[in-house]
Amino acid sequence: MPFYHKLGQIPHKRHTQFRKANGELYREELMGLEGFSSIQSILYHHFLPPRVTKAEDLGPLQPEYVDFGPIRHRAFRTAPTDPGTDPVSARVPLLGNNDVLLGVARATQSMDYFYRNAQSYETWWVHEGNGILKSQFGNLPFRTGDYIVIPFGTTWQMQIDSKEARFFTIENPSQIEPPKRYRNEYGQMLEHAPYSERDIRMPEELETHTERGEFEVRVKVRDRLTRHVLDHHPFDVVGWDGYLYPWIFNIEDFEPITGRVHQPPPAHQTFQGHNFVVCSFVPRLFDYHPLSIPAPYNHSNVNSDEVIYYAEGNFMSRKGIDRCDISLHPYGLPHGPQPGMTEASIGKKETQELAVMVDTFHPLSLTKQALKYEKPEYMDTWLEGNGE
Ligand SMILES: [Fe+2]
Repeated sequence: MPFYHKLGQIPHKRHTQFRKANGELYREELMGLEGFSSIQSILYHHFLPPRVTKAEDLGPLQPEYVDFGPIRHRAFRTAPTDPGTDPVSARVPLLGNNDVLLGVARATQSMDYFYRNAQSYETWWVHEGNGILKSQFGNLPFRTGDYIVIPFGTTWQMQIDSKEARFFTIENPSQIEPPKRYRNEYGQMLEHAPYSERDIRMPEELETHTERGEFEVRVKVRDRLTRHVLDHHPFDVVGWDGYLYPWIFNIEDFEPITGRVHQPPPAHQTFQGHNFVVCSFVPRLFDYHPLSIPAPYNHSNVNSDEVIYYAEGNFMSRKGIDRCDISLHPYGLPHGPQPGMTEASIGKKETQELAVMVDTFHPLSLTKQALKYEKPEYMDTWLEGNGE
């Protein structure tokens, strides 16, 4: 997150002697993005960070994409996803390109290993469940509605405290950040932004582990998974400071921007990444012009594939869509409300819908797994009635 935070003990001056009670030095690690040019943090470890006793290849992790076929709108039913074990192992990749990989995960267990994605930021949107994201930056309790944002290179482990948990996930080899237009030249959130720094939750409790033994860290990088065995607990940090750390924003803290007439999708924008945006559709009052039409107009979102994960409520402009479904409206053809939905929206005062949208600026491919989730009848939902 682009503002400063610190936890635990750190020396007053960077890169100076910082000693344990027994006189030994703590080990300083600078973790920075884009070399040393972007956001960074400095961490102080009990043990030397590169100590790895075993490195083992666990195989490729590249998504298997399939031919898209004729361009058409697609929808996917994710509710019956098999309940997997831990969140990372249970994740199913569904849609992706070079900028982003979208998936779902239904988990029933906490992780008994540690995980680091060194090639992508990860965002876990929590549809169901609660738990704690543990990392070398400290503990971050999470709950339903949270966007858990985890920077590249963070070593983490997720504890699930509910019977099961359900997530919509975003991986991207770029940063996730609040849109630039919400911030001033110093990075501070502006008054017109739909949320503020007070809505961002940061690690507040640092658990420092000094246990020795065998600790498994699975590292995702170069589109492969590597198993590292460390001879010390990876959460051995006694203190850190900087701008780089996992953080959480809850979708309920998104203050919707409404107007007399229909507000366009950018009014719902929550984050930006490279070549894509993340938007939140939250319960809100509808447009209040006396002749307003709350349902959206048809739109040809040229240069933007649109993915929506439908979480709760009745999505006003969609037919044939259920809870946990994902729609993909690719560019190449227009889309909009199905027959009757525009008329039905007139006079409605508010919506309880809750959905997360990802718009990508380059076409998305489907994975092999996505085909198993597909609702093939979706494209025909625009054909009912006389077509006027
Ligand atoms: Fe749309």
